[in-house]
Amino acid sequence: MRTLKLPSGQLIPVLGMGTWQMGENTRNRQNEIDALRHGLDLGFSLIDTAEMYGEGGAEEVIAQAITNRRASVFLVSKVYPHNASKRGVIAACERSLRRLKTDYLDLYLLHWRGSVPLAETLEAFQALQQAGKISSYGVSNFNVGDMEEASQLKGGNAIATNQVLYNLMRRGIEWDLLPWCRQQGIPIMAYSPIEQGRLLKHGTLNTIAQERGVSAAQVAIAWLLHQDNVIVIPKSSRIDHVEQNYAALNLKLSDDELTALDAAFPPPNKPVSLEML
Ligand SMILES: NC(=O)c1ccc[n+]([C@@H]2O[C@H](COP(=O)([O-])OP(=O)(O)OC[C@H]3O[C@@H](n4cnc5c(N)ncnc54)[C@H](OP(=O)(O)O)[C@@H]3O)[C@@H](O)[C@H]2O)c1
Repeated sequence: MRTLKLPSGQLIPVLGMGTWQMGENTRNRQNEIDALRHGLDLGFSLIDTAEMYGEGGAEEVIAQAITNRRASVFLVSKVYPHNASKRGVIAACERSLRRLKTDYLDLYLLHWRGSVPLAETLEAFQALQQAGKISSYGVSNFNVGDMEEASQLKGGNAIATNQVLYNLMRRGIEWDLLPWCRQQGIPIMAYSPIEQGRLLKHGTLNTIAQERGVSAAQVAIAWLLHQDNVIVIPKSSRIDHVEQNYAALNLKLSDDELTALDAAFPPPNKPVSLEML
């Protein structure tokens, strides 16, 4: 698996597995565990989660999926903005670690910006890092202004990533945020890479998919993997989809295909407010 380097020097795989909507319903639990385990068997190692997903349920699903293989997993979780005070972050992290049955996170993110001053959240992240409970920390749903502000604060220059909505239908970050992060050496984590399934019916995507004998999801993921400095985290609870998503790593799109995708999903020609799902 190709990797990118975080500002700390830590390596992060370019393709991982999301877990939003996992851990919400016990009837789906075994499928979710099986899908994640199958992904790890294939070669995925990055798993993205958050205390929000299933209100801790997704972290419990992951704990079962990674039993006896924690060392080979790159685990990312996120703290709610309403838990982002100094004491709140530390307590939330402890709860996530307990649910995940692990003693450290590879990466811990502020899920989105709330009312707690960023300086306080960064102070908590640094304390957790010094205690060995998180290897790196970062943010999510931050626009360029938020990133600039955070980078001026103590510990702000160690922000490892910004996880944002990015896919063929949501290219606004190419105007400013993506170039800014590239310049700072901060990889972007692209969430909802197939727009939660809504991209899959698109004509151009399906034409390319049919010509290449792959699925539309694979073309959408492969397109993101062509973007420099981008990590992609599709979610699936189905083994066949996990297999497809992993195989997108080997799908190289031609210049003609990339041009056709640019025509169907034009890049921004003016600033666009950061979108969130
Ligand atoms: N930081 C944030 O604010 C934020 C926000 C949203 C998401 N995220 C993270 O990003 C991850 C991915 O985003 P997402 O879950 O919103 O959306 P997504 O990955 O774009 O789409 C997930 C949906 O697509 C389906 N799917 C996955 N692979 C498929 C395939 N090969 N063929 C057909 N359908 C497929 C899944 O169904 P099946 O399960 O049935 O395959 C699921 O319904 C999340 O799980 C979460 O970890 C972060």
